[in-house]
Amino acid sequence: MKFIKKYHSTSKIIEIYKKYIKFSKCKKKYILILGSGKGVWEKYLSIYKKFQIFSVDCLYNANLSNFFIRTDIFKKNFFFDLCLFKKKFDIIICDICCNLSGIKEKDYSFFLKLFYKLSKVYKKFLKKNGILIFKFINYCNIVKKFYVLKKDFINVKFVKLISSKKNSSEFYSICKYFK
Ligand SMILES: C[S@@+](CC[C@H](N)C(=O)[O-])C[C@H]1O[C@@H](n2cnc3c(N)ncnc32)[C@H](O)[C@@H]1O
Repeated sequence: MKFIKKYHSTSKIIEIYKKYIKFSKCKKKYILILGSGKGVWEKYLSIYKKFQIFSVDCLYNANLSNFFIRTDIFKKNFFFDLCLFKKKFDIIICDICCNLSGIKEKDYSFFLKLFYKLSKVYKKFLKKNGILIFKFINYCNIVKKFYVLKKDFINVKFVKLISSKKNSSEFYSICKYFK
């Protein structure tokens, strides 16, 4: 636990877990993490035996489980790769962030492209009543584009985590109860 606490991003996953994905029932839950990085979030969630984690990253392999695919989610064969897990997921989390350019229009397009990709992913791989959580930077009020999520989820929130830097425009979308 000491090891985990030293990472800033751990406080984010702890907050997400406690507020949004803490289930009372102990039934096994399958979680897909897109952009699993060095595995900080994966390591934290793995503490809970009720979770089985599947992760994807284009650079790092944290080597925490056998359920990892190194790939770029924008590659053509990404869906084929995901099928290798042979699962639908209870929770899909995306913590992908490109090296932002600082040019708002460019970064806006990146998050829009990411959002369209994620829409395809959850429609194919999220279980009914599942949860989708993804990070975005609210450039040019991009959040308005995400209101379409309300068609697919009963409960959609856009939140600023207490644990995220106060002066950043980083938000997380928390979408619950996939229809
Ligand atoms: C902010 S880090 C995630 C950190 C992670 N939450 C953790 O626990 O360590 C974002 C990750 O997204 C990955 N990434 C960026 N673009 C990607 C893409 N197109 N496909 C897959 N992974 C991507 C990066 O390699 C990076 O590891």
